[in-house]
Amino acid sequence: MSQDPDTAVRYDVHGDVAVLTIDFPPVNALGAAMKEGMVRRMRQAAEDDAVHAIVVIGDNDRFVAGADIREFGKPPRGPTLLEVQDLLEFSEKPVVCAIDGHALGGGLELALAAPFRVAASRAKLGLPEVNLGLLPGGGGTQRLTRIAGPEVALDLILSGKHIGAAKAKELGLVDEVTDADLLTAAIDFARRKADAGGPWPRAIERTDKVATADSALFEKTRSANAKKWAGTIAPFRIVDCVEAACTRSPQDGLEFEKAAFKECLEAPSRAAQVHLFFAERQAAKVEGLDPAAKPRDIAKVGVIGAGTMGGGIAMSVVNAGIACVLLEVTQDALDAGLEKVRGNYDISIKRGSRSQAQVDAALGLLTSTLDYDDLADCDLVIEAVFENMGVKKEIFGTLDRVTKPDAILASNTSALDIDEIAAATGRPENVIGMHFFSPANVMKLCENVRGTKSSDTTIATVMAFAKRIGKVPVLAGNCEGFIGNRILKIYGQEADLILEQGAAPWDVDRALKGFGFPMGLYLMRDMSGLDVGYRMRQGRIEAGTLDTSSPEYSPLADRIVEAGRHGQKTGAGYYKYEGRDASPDPAVLDMLRDVAAAKQVPQRRFTDEEIVEQILAAMANEGAKILEEGIAQRASDIDVTYVYGYGFPKHEGGPMFWAQRKGLDKLLEIVRANHAKFGDRWKPAALLEARVADGKDWDGKPIAGAG
Ligand code: 3HC
Repeated sequence: MSQDPDTAVRYDVHGDVAVLTIDFPPVNALGAAMKEGMVRRMRQAAEDDAVHAIVVIGDNDRFVAGADIREFGKPPRGPTLLEVQDLLEFSEKPVVCAIDGHALGGGLELALAAPFRVAASRAKLGLPEVNLGLLPGGGGTQRLTRIAGPEVALDLILSGKHIGAAKAKELGLVDEVTDADLLTAAIDFARRKADAGGPWPRAIERTDKVATADSALFEKTRSANAKKWAGTIAPFRIVDCVEAACTRSPQDGLEFEKAAFKECLEAPSRAAQVHLFFAERQAAKVEGLDPAAKPRDIAKVGVIGAGTMGGGIAMSVVNAGIACVLLEVTQDALDAGLEKVRGNYDISIKRGSRSQAQVDAALGLLTSTLDYDDLADCDLVIEAVFENMGVKKEIFGTLDRVTKPDAILASNTSALDIDEIAAATGRPENVIGMHFFSPANVMKLCENVRGTKSSDTTIATVMAFAKRIGKVPVLAGNCEGFIGNRILKIYGQEADLILEQGAAPWDVDRALKGFGFPMGLYLMRDMSGLDVGYRMRQGRIEAGTLDTSSPEYSPLADRIVEAGRHGQKTGAGYYKYEGRDASPDPAVLDMLRDVAAAKQVPQRRFTDEEIVEQILAAMANEGAKILEEGIAQRASDIDVTYVYGYGFPKHEGGPMFWAQRKGLDKLLEIVRANHAKFGDRWKPAALLEARVADGKDWDGKPIAGAG
């Protein structure tokens, strides 16, 4: 990326209008060189007597994606955003920001400081800082509130959502929307304004929308969301700032926002969320792929199985505008699946997350069949039937016969061996895992699982395809449980063994929820039903693959089910229920005491912090083994998997980030102490030991001050 301010912002004159073109790849972020370029070019335009108006536009059909996220936490360089904004806001010549692509965060804040904005109809605008643990710190909370009122400001800034140009115009964020050439439209607009003469409007001075603000709105918003926002700062400060826009003078409001931004910037949650921003983008990249292996074009997808998973996957496909054929074995199963899909769409229309026209378009792309031959022209087929190797092998054998030779065949298995599935076909190079998470139309993670023979083209294709249907792809290697469920097993196991040592299920749930998981483990198990897991364990016991004499096997779950407690649906599980209301049940503690006595486990008390530390340390140690074996490409992929697939709190950055922030040396201490106490389930990962010995982080980079 060029660091030259003069090329970062180019200067041309079209008649009497200066055009400042921001050319600062990849996304025109507000890096030091770009801001310096803006200052120089704005001054040049101000001094140029032949210029009567100024247009600011981005190169490559994009405006500005906000502050340069890579510069957070580093000493500030170059002019501040405020200095650039002042030049736009107080310019004697009218300034028009011409918005195409994205105007996000500081990018939109830059534009809101200008008196005028013209947008291409496809442009997207938003203040997504909250996703990085931040708030708009370039006057966004103040100007947006003054332009569109506090309700709109809270909605946009707290959600971080992007809105289209038409909506932005309706809300007063842009003055004109065009389908024609944006630069021409913006120059015409600027010339008209220059001809009409000033003064030019300043959003920060508007009072009409804030004068009538309902003061109860802010307290209502805080109390309605207090639980959801626990552990974070940014959303609370956003409400404070929008309130400040309604109650303070422009200058005071800006000062208030500046202090709140600084507070968020320095909070631990910001570092965790910025880590995730880059981790998510990194996860989509595959190391060592042949650069010639380009993703195949996927025009039609087949989905096998119209159950909850299959239906959700099909919805994700058609939502992205791709044709999909859903296959079931019986008409009844197909009808039930399609009914569920329609029901889900009805809910999204009611919630306002999708319009009727969008739903009609999506359903128009969905066809259904009972006949495998209808998959003949699919470019990708995703199998999503229940977890049975025999059934899956039969399906893949059939798919191999009926689909075109270069079609990619994917399995949504959450744990089965991809190589064994691939061996049922004559094209193992085209076979891969695509593990979606329930509900698949909502959950962002797609854990792609490479088999030994999956080709680079197959891998590149599913990684690109997952992104295209709005998922966050991660690439895993083939082992039992892959990345996600392998660590989940450790998570559940450690929690179960903590119960045996003296904690109650509700203690563990309270601790996990307090840490930021959306729901406790035992409430979640009760909700999904305990009988399915029980039957699976019994199957494994019969097959001799589950050793019930091992210290890692905790019989509590089985005792609970054998007592007729199958979870919420039977009114009792780990908790007892009245309707959906769970309450602690002393009967479970009695069972737990019996289990602990039979296994002779010494009893102790746990604080919430100890519970969380014990569980997360076990997860991170397993994560290190996964890394060491090459099952995950990088530690941050494990974080992405946990945040987007398993509800790990974003503001904690993922289990590997948590461990690194705690200190890998501290993690090793915990792991070693537990190893001495509990034996091999806590065997330290060799990679963890090596990183600590070398004073390095998970990625093998030296830790500052170590060594
Ligand atoms: N700063 C630095 N780098 C950025 C960046 C930013 N604001 N936004 C994107 N990038 C980088 C990405 O890391 C990626 O780098 P890589 O190629 O090395 O992996 C590259 O730009 C392309 O990004 P994407 O892969 O995400 O490209 P897309 O085309 O899919 O999406 C986008 C483009 C919609 C702009 C998306 O990148 C995005 O949402 N960016 C973040 C926007 C944002 O959060 N802005 C607010 C920043 S905070 C702020 O402005 C504070 C202010 O209030 C003071």
